[in-house]
Amino acid sequence: MVCGKFITLEGVDGAGKSTQLEHLVTLLRQNGLTVVVTREPGGTVLGERLRALLLDQASVMHPETEALLMFAARREHLDKVIIPALHKGSWVISDRFTDASFAYQGSGRGLSSGKLALLEQWVQNDLQPDLTLYFDVPVELGRQRVNISRAPDRFEQEQQVFFQRVRDGYLERAKQYPKRIHVIDARQTENSVKQEVAGILELLLKRT
Ligand code: TYD
Repeated sequence: MVCGKFITLEGVDGAGKSTQLEHLVTLLRQNGLTVVVTREPGGTVLGERLRALLLDQASVMHPETEALLMFAARREHLDKVIIPALHKGSWVISDRFTDASFAYQGSGRGLSSGKLALLEQWVQNDLQPDLTLYFDVPVELGRQRVNISRAPDRFEQEQQVFFQRVRDGYLERAKQYPKRIHVIDARQTENSVKQEVAGILELLLKRT
C-alpha cells in the first residue's frame, strides 16, 4: 500500500524551480514529514549515467532514442527510489518527471503523444504524481534570468523556438490534468511564488 505522497516540479529555464524546491522541502519537513528529494533524468546510479549521456552536448541521438532513455532512467528511478520511498510513507519530491517528456520530447522534439503515452503506461502503470507544480515563465524572461557560468548542456543549447514549444507543451498538459498540475505564474516575485506554493501544499496536507 502506498502511503506517502509524490510531488513533481516542472518548469522551463529561469522559472525558479530549484529555489522553490528547497522551500517546499523545508515546509514539508517543518510539518514533520520524511522527505526524499530526487531528480530526473537521474536519481539512481544508472539514471545518473543516462543523465550524463542525455545532457552531453557531444551525444547525437534520434529523438525517439532520447525519449526511450528518459523512460529507461524513469523505470529504474521508480523501482529503486520512488516506489520504495512511498511505501515507507515518505514524501517524494522529484525535480521533473513524465510531464517533462511530454513537453520536451513531445512538444519540443515533435514526438507523438500517443507513443509517449504508451511508454508512460508501460513504465508507470497507474502511478501518477499526487501533485505537480509547473512554474511558468515566458521563455524570453526565463532566459534573461539564467546566468549559466558553465557550458550549456544539450537541452540548454536549443533555440528559443524550441523552448516556446516546450512551454506550450507544459501548458497543454496542464489543461489535460487540471486537478493534478498547478500552473504557477513565476513572473511574480520569489516571495509571492513561495506563498502560492505554501497555499497549494496546505490544501494537499488537509486532504491527507
Ligand atoms: P534539469 O535538471 O531540470 O535541468 P535544468 O535545471 O537546467 O532545468 O533537467 C535536465 C534537462 O532534461 C532539462 O533540460 C529538461 C530535460 N528533460 C527532458 O527533456 N525530458 C525528460 O523527461 C526530463 C525528465 C528532463
